Amino acid sequence: MKKAQICELLYKKELAEGIFDFRIKSGEMADVAKCGQFLHIDCGDGTLLRRPISICDVYDDVVRFVFEVKGKGTKALAQKKVGDTLDVLGPLGHGFDINDDYQSPVIVGGGIGIFPLYQLSKLVNNPAVYLGFRSANRVVMEDEFKSVAENTQIATDDGSYGFKGYAAELLKKHLDEKPCDIIYSCGPMPMLRAVKKIAEDYGAKCQLSLEQRMGCGIGACLVCSCETKREGTEKYAKVCKDGPVFWADEVTLND
Ligand code: FES
Repeated sequence: MKKAQICELLYKKELAEGIFDFRIKSGEMADVAKCGQFLHIDCGDGTLLRRPISICDVYDDVVRFVFEVKGKGTKALAQKKVGDTLDVLGPLGHGFDINDDYQSPVIVGGGIGIFPLYQLSKLVNNPAVYLGFRSANRVVMEDEFKSVAENTQIATDDGSYGFKGYAAELLKKHLDEKPCDIIYSCGPMPMLRAVKKIAEDYGAKCQLSLEQRMGCGIGACLVCSCETKREGTEKYAKVCKDGPVFWADEVTLND
């Protein structure tokens, strides 16, 4: 069983209102972390449950994660200062299938789901990256994605920046015009449903990283169950332990 580690906060920056970029020192985690895994963080300040936050990047002995303040826990986390320590469990879960055989991957992200896709964009061959945000003032990490994936395009729901519409629409356009041997996606459930449907319609392989409420983070409490069609397993999988990344045809994305 994994043990929590006490990690020093080395860097902190607010990328947009309420969206924080944190980098912590942990050689042990940095050595073993796989792209798409997550951390389970004790946010302190009286919050009982840890919060699951995806790993955004790993370099040297540093693990980077980016999160949005959404409630008491993440609000307390955002108050931490450089030099403070964090109690972190991880890396947890199963990450993305990264394979040199994939020559034309397409990456589709939405909202806070873009963060685990940054390291992925660095590690796969020449990806096309489509990132969706609500509006121009929520767009973050565009230059970073462009520096590792030349073909990065931004969409905003209200058209205030980039393509007007959803990242999934850009995926469909891509599949109409260009090759794709795998789709990777992370974001809000309506977007994942759209991506899964498009992948089915076009017969494309697809991996989805699910965002789910969690309790224990290690497969013990069943809070994070999701319906699955995985052969040889139970009908319900645990997103924390069996995921968060699943093949799209293995999971049922209920309303
Ligand atoms: Fe407890 Fe997944 S969070 S089983």
